[in-house]
Amino acid sequence: MCGIVGYIGKKNSLPILIDGLKRLEYRGYDSAGVSIINDNNEIVSFKRAGKVLDLDNSIDKDKFEGTIGIGHTRWATHGVPNDINAHPHCDMEYLFTLVHNGIIENYKHIKEKLKEENYIFHTDTDTEVLANLINYHFKKTNDFEKAVRLALVEVEGTYGIACLCVKEPDKIIVARKGSPLMLGIGNEETIVSSDASAIINHTKNVIYLNDGEMAVLGRNGFHLKTVEDEDIFRDVEVLDFLLDEIEKGGYDHFMLKEICEQPDTIQNTYRGRINFDTGVAKLGGLENIADKLFNAKRIIITACGTAWHAALVGEYMIEHYCRIPTEVEYASEFRYRRPILNSDDVVILISQSGETADTLAALREAKKAGATTLGIVNVIGSTIAREVEAGTYIHAGPEIGVASTKAFTCQIMSLALITLMIAAEKGTISKRKLIDLAGDIKALPEKIKHMVNRKEEYKKVAEAFVDCRNFLYLGRGFNFPVALEGALKLKEISYIHAEGYPAAEMKHGPIALIDNDMPVVFIAPLDRTYDKIISNIEEVKARRGRIIAIANDDDKNITDYADHVLRVPHTKALLAGIINVIPLQFLAYYIAAARGLDVDKPRNLAKSVTVE
Ligand code: G6P
Repeated sequence: MCGIVGYIGKKNSLPILIDGLKRLEYRGYDSAGVSIINDNNEIVSFKRAGKVLDLDNSIDKDKFEGTIGIGHTRWATHGVPNDINAHPHCDMEYLFTLVHNGIIENYKHIKEKLKEENYIFHTDTDTEVLANLINYHFKKTNDFEKAVRLALVEVEGTYGIACLCVKEPDKIIVARKGSPLMLGIGNEETIVSSDASAIINHTKNVIYLNDGEMAVLGRNGFHLKTVEDEDIFRDVEVLDFLLDEIEKGGYDHFMLKEICEQPDTIQNTYRGRINFDTGVAKLGGLENIADKLFNAKRIIITACGTAWHAALVGEYMIEHYCRIPTEVEYASEFRYRRPILNSDDVVILISQSGETADTLAALREAKKAGATTLGIVNVIGSTIAREVEAGTYIHAGPEIGVASTKAFTCQIMSLALITLMIAAEKGTISKRKLIDLAGDIKALPEKIKHMVNRKEEYKKVAEAFVDCRNFLYLGRGFNFPVALEGALKLKEISYIHAEGYPAAEMKHGPIALIDNDMPVVFIAPLDRTYDKIISNIEEVKARRGRIIAIANDDDKNITDYADHVLRVPHTKALLAGIINVIPLQFLAYYIAAARGLDVDKPRNLAKSVTVE
């Protein structure tokens, strides 16, 4: 949600900032801007509504030369996305220039106070208020660092900021509370960014800032401290992914690349974590809470968006194979509704980014209540990963497409490993069954590869539905969350209204919508609910709905019922979510691409939602 980048070093900063913003754009893309300290020690800024490419095409590069600069790509929270509200923002005297992620919750109160001191405001943003508050404290202290610190102590809410000061033009000051920020430590240069994608092509050495911490970046290095003015020493960490992992590699979109990567990413999730001879899974990151997990009276899984759908699959898995009562909660609801938690409950937090504000707040609630917390996270070193008591990384690699695909299947894979680990320990499934399931896990990458290789078949079906206005997705059991995820993918990137439902619930409402304009996607593998699904298909057929079925390769019967069939290989229920969602990811992708939409940057969405 909004991306920040900053550079201080010996190189011309503009190309570095623009490149960084392009890589961060998946976090938000309503507007973008940069500010640079030029050779005359003036701050020059340029910002505009629209994408980073618009900024890049319209900026006069000759006027923006300088070795210190900051940039921002925005996802609007306060104020409409226009040129004026775009970042960077200045105080009324243009002493400070600031980019900001997050929300200053008490900005109205501060604004009123500053107005009484004759401060003038030009935008609707909370960021401009912060810039003026820094100015206010600078007037009293004549010290950039102190002014930023005193301002930050006064604000409530969340921030990740990078700030320039015309009076001290050899510095960038950055700080974080609730919005991620990290420093890339290069050779005589420091890059600051809200995530690693803008840093990795400069250096792999990074320092993560924690909440309540700030850094003063100078030409000869940096120093870290808390906003309460205590010095901090932190080890440098090394990023463990490669630049190609965040580039498109010949695909038209990141989303397509990420869908096609799933044979590898799934393997990365389970590699070294399961013994295929015994079926026993071992997750090193969970060892310190293993006893609590095995003896949990109840498991609560909480997450947002796609990760919430993975959580639902987890509920089915854990109850089915481990016999532990499991509940799934939207993180945004969980944190506000005074949930009853006990010390023998385990709360699992699932998050691709590890930064989603509601999921992070749910984690903190769970910890406060004394429950054991376990994270299933993709981004290494992210806040949730660092704050949970125990956790497992899904190792999906950087996910850039805003619509989550490979993270979803890897989240399910992680849940499957946790399920096998608990079930083996508790003896809730037989040794034979464990080995069987492990064999199915081993076979997954090949099966996914097979589906990726038939993407043209899926594309053909997609092209028949490009102009539809509504879609219904139906599934039962383990495939109900898959129906929800299929519908979410479609609406996120194609802007076609889509709903997912448990197939049998269709009769209690959605059936009223069915006519010959309504495509209905049935997830209909040959499992124990197959006959029931066929009955549901007949009900839709009787009302002239258009039927697309996700069906197994050897299901010859299905063509009697469905207008279109997306074929998938067989798998056990435990892994059905992973296999059956893949054609739905392709379906959504190809429909959106055929509509000519910006698949990787769907309107109004952001990859990582760091506001409530
Ligand atoms: C946003 C993204 C979704 C994602 C959700 C949760 O809405 O657009 O793709 O599923 O946040 O994000 P997380 O990073 O916590 O998994």
